[in-house]
Amino acid sequence: MSITLHIHATRETANKKVAREIAELIRAKPHAVLGLATGSTPIGVYQELVRLHHQEGLSFRQVCTFNLDEYQGIDLSHPESYWNFMHRHLFDHIDIPAANIHIPGTRVPSLELADYCKHYEELITVHGGIDYQILGIGRTGHIGFNEPGSPPDCRTRRILLDQLTREDAAPAFGDLDHVPTHAITMGCGTIMEARHIALLAFGTAKAAIVRKALRGPVSSQVSASYLQNHEHTSFHLDHESASLL
Ligand code: PGA
Repeated sequence: MSITLHIHATRETANKKVAREIAELIRAKPHAVLGLATGSTPIGVYQELVRLHHQEGLSFRQVCTFNLDEYQGIDLSHPESYWNFMHRHLFDHIDIPAANIHIPGTRVPSLELADYCKHYEELITVHGGIDYQILGIGRTGHIGFNEPGSPPDCRTRRILLDQLTREDAAPAFGDLDHVPTHAITMGCGTIMEARHIALLAFGTAKAAIVRKALRGPVSSQVSASYLQNHEHTSFHLDHESASLL
C-alpha cells in the first residue's frame, strides 16, 4: 500500500481531476455516497462539480453526502458554519435533495453527544459506507478535525481544536476569541473506511505537513500519516505543497 501522488501544474488541474473522478463515480453509481470536506482547499472542486451539473447534466438527485466535521457552539446560519459553507459553495447550486445531506449539528448538547455521534456513524453504514472521501489537511496534520493524538481507530466524536487550527481559522472569524474551541469530527477510523480518498493540499504553507504525512512515520501526531495504510488514497498537490518531497 502506498499513497498515489499527483503533482499538478496548477490547482485547476487538480480540481478538475478530482471533480472528474467524482462525476465518473456518480455516473456509474447514481446513489454514490460522498464524504465532503470544508476549508479553502476543496472550493475549486465544488465549483467544478457545479459546472458539471449545469453544463454536462451531472445529477446529484440520488447522491448522499456526509461532511467530515462541524464547529460546536455557533449558529447554523453563522457564515463560518460548515452547514453554511457547504450550501454556499455546493448544495445551493446542484439538485441534491436536502434529505440526502448529512452534516453534524453545531449545537449538540453534551448529554446527547455520544448517541448523536453513534447515530452519525450508523447513518454512514446504513447508506453503504463512503465511496469517495475528499480531504484537506491542516497544518497540524489533521484530517477532518482529528488533531494530534487522535488514535487510528477513533470514531465520530467531539474534539478540542488545536491552538494552531484555531489560529489558522481566526482571520475568517475576525478574531481568535471568536473561533469555536470544539468541533464534532468523523474519526480516523471512520475516514479510513472510505473506499477511495482524495487529499488535496496547495501552497507552501502545507509543504512541511505534506512531507510528514507522506514520508514520515505513521503516527498519531500526524493523523494524515494513517493514510499511508489505506488501499486507495491519492494526494493531489501543486508544486508549492510538493516542494519539500
Ligand atoms: P484549508 O484547511 O483548506 O482552509 O487549508 C484545511 C484543513 O484544515 O483541513
